[in-house]
Amino acid sequence: MLRKIVFPAAGMGTRFLPATKATPKEMLTIVDKPLIQYGVEEALEAGMDKIVMITGRGKRAIEDHFDISAELELNLRAAGKHEMLEKISKLSRKTTVSYVRQKQPLGLGHAVLCAEPWVGNEPFGVSLADELICSPHGSAMAQLRAVFEKTGASVIGLARVPKSDVHKYGIVKAEQEGDLLRLTGMVEKPATEDAPSDLAMIGRYIFTPRLFELLETTPSGKGGEIQLTDAMALLAQEEPMYGVIIEGQRFDAGNPLGFLTANLVLGLENEEFADDLRRILKQYL
Ligand code: UTP
Repeated sequence: MLRKIVFPAAGMGTRFLPATKATPKEMLTIVDKPLIQYGVEEALEAGMDKIVMITGRGKRAIEDHFDISAELELNLRAAGKHEMLEKISKLSRKTTVSYVRQKQPLGLGHAVLCAEPWVGNEPFGVSLADELICSPHGSAMAQLRAVFEKTGASVIGLARVPKSDVHKYGIVKAEQEGDLLRLTGMVEKPATEDAPSDLAMIGRYIFTPRLFELLETTPSGKGGEIQLTDAMALLAQEEPMYGVIIEGQRFDAGNPLGFLTANLVLGLENEEFADDLRRILKQYL
């Protein structure tokens, strides 16, 4: 039943300029794969194989990345580079990706609403690919899915953040309900003193389709954007909504420091060159 997932990727990536002037933020590379590929692989691991990307101007590279490149495949085959051929062709053959253009970047809530004609009246996932989550205990989306299967309700991925960082995130109000964490409200980027908890939303969601109806009437909020958090707060008043504190390493790769950290940490875990990287880094520390 739950197979559809939306990747909003139409944002301007201003925190990462000038890199993102002509290159989509989602195509920035962690070790040897673009961020968006990590997100898609995570979704596939959770059984969500019907994918829609919300894109905008300057995001064509995303479409090319998930397309079949016949010429490249031909060249790799002729050169006998079978391992690399398998690597690049497997994903594009395994996935069907649809694309919807968000004509103006009016906010994350608006980007999600652009997927409504494609999703229809079904529950669906939403994943923000610039939040990179690596988990050895089932992908982040699979962790959310497990709670969705139990409850049939909307489920939100969470992480604890230092009090000094709450102003960077959507922060939830939560209460324990048996072994589940029931969410009763959320606020976008609150001041430290207004934050209802230290639990931040980290770009992984499963929603019931009621969210779309609420988004349709959500007025512009913080920053003049249609905020997903505002519609979610209404949804949490109408229907049960649960939170999952995601197990795994998380990197906010949508800014240069988080991105560099992700590259170094995953580089140091890479079997092929971790030792060399460690040796090289020692010269600079
Ligand atoms: P972010 O605020 O993290 O991304 O939005 P951004 O807007 O690209 O980056 P900055 O803040 O300017 O540096 C969260 C997610 O929502 C998408 C972004 O692509 C990102 O995946 N988004 C945001 C849209 O698709 N459309 C929008 O209008 C805004």
